This record gives sequence, structure tokens and C-alpha cells, in this order.
Amino acid sequence: MLFRGWGESVDERWPDLATVADHVGVDHLVVTRHALVREVLADPDTWRPDNALDAVTPVPVAALRVLAGHRFRLPPTLANNSTPSHPAIRGIVAEALHPTRVAAQQPWLTGLVRQRVTGLAAALDAGEPVDLYAELAADLPLLVLARLVELPDAPVGAVKDFARAALELFWAPLHADRQLALAAEVGRFHTVLRHFAATGGGLAAALRADGHSADVVVGALFFLLVAGQETTSQFLTLLLHRLTAEPEVRAGLRAGTVAVADVVEEGLRLEPPIVTWRRVAAVDTTLGGTAVAAGTSVVLWLARAGRDPAVVAAPEAFRPGQRGSRRHLAFGAGAHRCVGAQLARMEAAVVVAEAAPLLDGVSVVRPPWCPDNLTFRMPDAFVVRRS
Ligand code: HEM
Repeated sequence: MLFRGWGESVDERWPDLATVADHVGVDHLVVTRHALVREVLADPDTWRPDNALDAVTPVPVAALRVLAGHRFRLPPTLANNSTPSHPAIRGIVAEALHPTRVAAQQPWLTGLVRQRVTGLAAALDAGEPVDLYAELAADLPLLVLARLVELPDAPVGAVKDFARAALELFWAPLHADRQLALAAEVGRFHTVLRHFAATGGGLAAALRADGHSADVVVGALFFLLVAGQETTSQFLTLLLHRLTAEPEVRAGLRAGTVAVADVVEEGLRLEPPIVTWRRVAAVDTTLGGTAVAAGTSVVLWLARAGRDPAVVAAPEAFRPGQRGSRRHLAFGAGAHRCVGAQLARMEAAVVVAEAAPLLDGVSVVRPPWCPDNLTFRMPDAFVVRRS
């Protein structure tokens, strides 16, 4: 259950809180209701983010050796940082992703997406199958991120492979041989990042100038390269897939009666790329009247919180602008709330505005398939063809 079934309907009954054992026998407290998820996110002193990046399958010694061979270290920097260094690091990243800097990328991104959509429309017109993940969603967020924060001069494919390997290594149920292969991939890229952290411009230089150690610069870049592009690629893929099944929404977009921004929010509510996020109880406490012991791993079911009938009028329906649509917790909340939310929204709005017309009259040849993972959906492909 912890790795499958996150997308299930709210008709499936769940208690507000449930203790669920994972594949290695560790218990997690799964939180299903919007109000309780919010309560946890709003109180980082009681519910610390320290376990956010912990490997859900313990990494065996052989794989740890591979990582150590690459001098792999991941000190708390952003998502898992409850130390006093967090606000300063977050502030520098937030500056690089400031809404005005994000807005300045919009014309460039629109031009790029428009150009691609023209090519994809021609392929569809010719009766060819088109993979909207590979041809559209996969690299766009990385290209934009590179322009905003300056990234190591690595080929797009290498960064994507590294990021997906990291999501698998830390959040998937795994066997030892796979962990070894993933550790090699992640370790290799960590070496690239270490060099870039010492010499690169943009965000790396800003962190260095503020006195942060090489390990912190690497840690921040590591997290950004994973969270700052792979998540949005996944979201674009899942949203486009969902829109193929929503002809009325597409008709509304065409007619101008449905706002693109509302489609993006409803998409984040119903198709979040990050389905759960973790916290750990720092002290003995209570949640929703239930006693929770210090050290308990808490799995916040963000995707289900977005479908809570206490918050949304029609939880299962894709109705842009409906009551509660924007109250989803897809970006978390509180002190660690996603610092790239504005960027992800801008990218999704451009893709919806430009690419939704491609979906008219297509049939799905290959829906996105998502592997077992505690947190990330990681769709692998989305192939359509004109019927
Ligand atoms: C649809 C796309 C995205 C989703 C759904 C998403 C979701 C999330 C979530 C759930 C968290 C944890 C929040 C919490 O603990 O309360 C988070 C944190 C974070 N995200 Fe995103 N994210 C997305 C895109 C991005 C992008 C584009 C960037 C940057 C380029 C980014 C950078 C970050 C950072 C730096 C944090 C850690 C913030 C902190 O701890 O202070 N994310 N994101």
C-alpha cells in the first residue's frame, strides 16, 4: 500500500490516521485528512522535516561504499533542514527563483513550446504516434531552471538519469543489486556537482559568497536538480494525460471560458507529482486526538488531502475554479513550502495554453506508467495518436 494506490478514489475508506508498515517492517503514521496534514506542515518544531530525504529502503554497505567512493555527502540544506541555517539557504534560492525572474522566462518558454507543438501537430496530422513525455514534458523544466540558476554544463539526458536515479534510490522499494547501480549513477553525478559547486556561477556562486561550505552548495544543487525539474516534468505529463479525458475543460480553454491558471490548480489538486511527503515527530505529542511517540515517521498523504470532501465541493471531478480547488497541498505548506511553486505554475500554464489543442481528437496509445515509489509518480511515457 505504501508504494501503490496513492491515486485511489476517496470512495476507498481510510481513517484520518493509520499506522502502516512498509516493506522493511518500519511503521509509518499515514495522515489522510487535509486539516491534519496542514496542522503537521504548519508546526516544524513538533513535526520536523529531518527525514524528508531518508532512503525508504536502507542503503546496504556495498552501495554506501560506492557513494563514499564519490565523496557523497548530503548535509541538511533545504527540504530536510531543521537547523538555523535553513532560512538563509532558502532565502538565496528564493531570490534566484523570484517571481519577477520567473515571469521574465515566460516569453522564451512560450516560443520554445510553440515551436515544439507545431512539430508535434504535424506528426499527429501525419498519423504518427507522439510521446508527449519525451517530446515535450521531459526537458522543458530543466532548460528553464538552467537559465534561472546556472547549472553544470552536463547533457540533459545525464541530468535526467541522475535525478530519476536519486528519486528511486531514496523513495522506492529496492533490491540490493539495484541500489548498487543507482548508487553508482547518483555518486557519479555528485562528483560533477562537487566540481561545479566549487567553480560555478549563478546560484552556486551566491551560496559560496554567503559563506556556505562546499557540502552545503552541493546539497542545495543536488536537491534543486531533482525537485526543481523532475517534479514539474512529471506534473506536465500527468496533467496532459488527465486533460485527454476532459474534453469539456479543453472546450472551455478554447472558448476562453475556462482560465488556464484554474486548470493548473485543479491539475495540482488531482494529479500532484508528489503524492506524499514525510515529517518526523520531534517529541511525544498528539495528532487528531491520537498519541504519537517521538521519532514516529509521519507520511502526509498530500494527494488525498487535495481530495478531502471537507475542503473541495466535488473532490473527484476536474472542475477548474470549483470551491476549494486552490486549497490543495501539492506544494506543502509552512516554513518548507515549495520555493519553486511560482516557477512550476508558470511552466504548467505555458504548456496548458500551448499544448492542450494537441489533445483534440487523439486517443491514448500508451498511458503514463508509474513505478512503485513512496513519494514521486515518475511517469515514464505518454503516447498519443490522432484517432
Ligand atoms: C509541480 C511541481 C512541484 C511540486 C508538486 C513540488 C512540491 C514540493 C513539496 C511537496 C515540497 C515539500 C514542502 C514542505 O515540506 O512543506 C517541496 C519543496 C521544495 N521544492 Fe518543490 N515542487 C515542485 C516544483 C519545484 C520547482 C520547479 C522547484 C525549483 C526550481 C522546487 C524547489 C523546491 C525546494 C527548494 C523545496 C524545499 C523548500 C524548503 O525546504 O525550504 N520545486 N516542493
